[in-house]
Amino acid sequence: MSKRFHIRTFGCQMNVHDSEKIAGILSESGYMETDNIRDADVIVINTCNIRQKAEQKFYSDLGRLKRMKQHRPDLRIAVAGCIAQQKGEELFKRFPYVDYIFGPDNIDKLREWIDTRAQAIALEENPEYHLNELPVKRVGQVKAWVSIMYGCDNFCAYCVVPYTRGRERSRPGRDIYREVKGLAEKGYREVTLLGQNVNSYGKNLNENLDFPDLLKVLHEIEGIERIRFVTSHPKDLSDKLIEYMRDLPKVCEHIHLPIQAGSDRVLRLMNRGYTYGHYKEKVDKLRKAIPGIAITTDVIVGFPGETEEDFRCTVKALKEIGFDGIFAFKYSERPGTKAVELPDHVDEETKSQRLTEILALQEEITYRKNKGLEGEVVEVLVEGRSETDPEKMTGRTRTNKIVNFYGDEEDTGRLVDIKIIEAKQHSLYGEKV
Ligand code: SAH
Ligand code: SF4
Ligand code: F3S
Repeated sequence: MSKRFHIRTFGCQMNVHDSEKIAGILSESGYMETDNIRDADVIVINTCNIRQKAEQKFYSDLGRLKRMKQHRPDLRIAVAGCIAQQKGEELFKRFPYVDYIFGPDNIDKLREWIDTRAQAIALEENPEYHLNELPVKRVGQVKAWVSIMYGCDNFCAYCVVPYTRGRERSRPGRDIYREVKGLAEKGYREVTLLGQNVNSYGKNLNENLDFPDLLKVLHEIEGIERIRFVTSHPKDLSDKLIEYMRDLPKVCEHIHLPIQAGSDRVLRLMNRGYTYGHYKEKVDKLRKAIPGIAITTDVIVGFPGETEEDFRCTVKALKEIGFDGIFAFKYSERPGTKAVELPDHVDEETKSQRLTEILALQEEITYRKNKGLEGEVVEVLVEGRSETDPEKMTGRTRTNKIVNFYGDEEDTGRLVDIKIIEAKQHSLYGEKV
């Protein structure tokens, strides 16, 4: 019987996609994937270090594996991702039953280690990593993630990513083109281009190819019906990109544009490189050029020094802009980042109050927006049966909203027109027309 692996993934889309690469490598090495952690001969935890909560979750997960390893000394435990990169050797000391540790730039090492090495670690810089083609075992068959760049150079004062993912590097356009073409040939209909800051794509390339150019090149690929991308940094969102989004029909009418805060003082302390005025201007341009565009965002409350007045600016921004959806977080102190040294840290209770207020406000706004779609006919790319409501099929609108409807299994992978009947808080219910 072939050996089995199980992967547990925390964190952002890059990590989700990295796990697909880890699964690709293990499958190529003859392992089979299992959903049941107890059946696994290899367990990989792909970690996230973005907030303290994510870190704690990982430690409690890892703690539970100790017993399993005692019962089955052959079990291999690997720690990957952003905590692996930041903590390194320390993890071996605290958790001696861990076998392998590797960071996001060293996923390929697993291939050499898996059947030969007892214990190994790889955290070194890997400047060639973005040129590698790793096997990928993808989760779905309709839409796929594609990395277009790695790392981040922005050093926002609160953020660990530049320390865990290294310097920004863009993949050559021809490699991305080849991958997307291959996906189209396999029947994928949608791609999401991934990078911490996709708008600055191409900076280190000799190809004279920027992000809008890349969209245009990929747009030519037959079979791909929809193109998405995350994440966009407001400071690098160019007029050219807005024009190309408007003119390229496959590029979906949705942008995730993290605002983080509404106060200029806080934005400066965060080192974000824009003011609320700049941000609002970009939103206005996007909405003018691309009617119906959905705009989603990330917000941090309780950044060091955030006063009540600053927080009110964030509330005002959310009301003024009316986002389609937000991810809101309490500021979480990350060792090694600049924000740790800032004065006037906000107490936990205030942070919680601010978060609750923002979430309540946004629930209303999102619901109102969804409500506005009732009666409209929208194009849905069908992904398959709904996991939460297995009687229905599920898919997303071009604006990235979830739509559930009664349909057939055969609709999977198809674009279907759906009339929205009822808006719910987190999804839409519709009927085929
Ligand atoms: N590269 C993307 C997102 C990276 S992390 C960007 O530039 O927006 C995703 C989100 O996590 C961030 O947008 C931010 O809102 C949040 N985040 C990052 N560090 C955080 C911290 N220390 N505390 C709370 N939230 C944080
Ligand atoms: Fe973090 Fe800022 Fe880079 Fe996003 S742009 S990954 S928030 S440093
Ligand atoms: Fe987390 Fe690393 Fe992504 S810290 S959010 S997994 S880049």
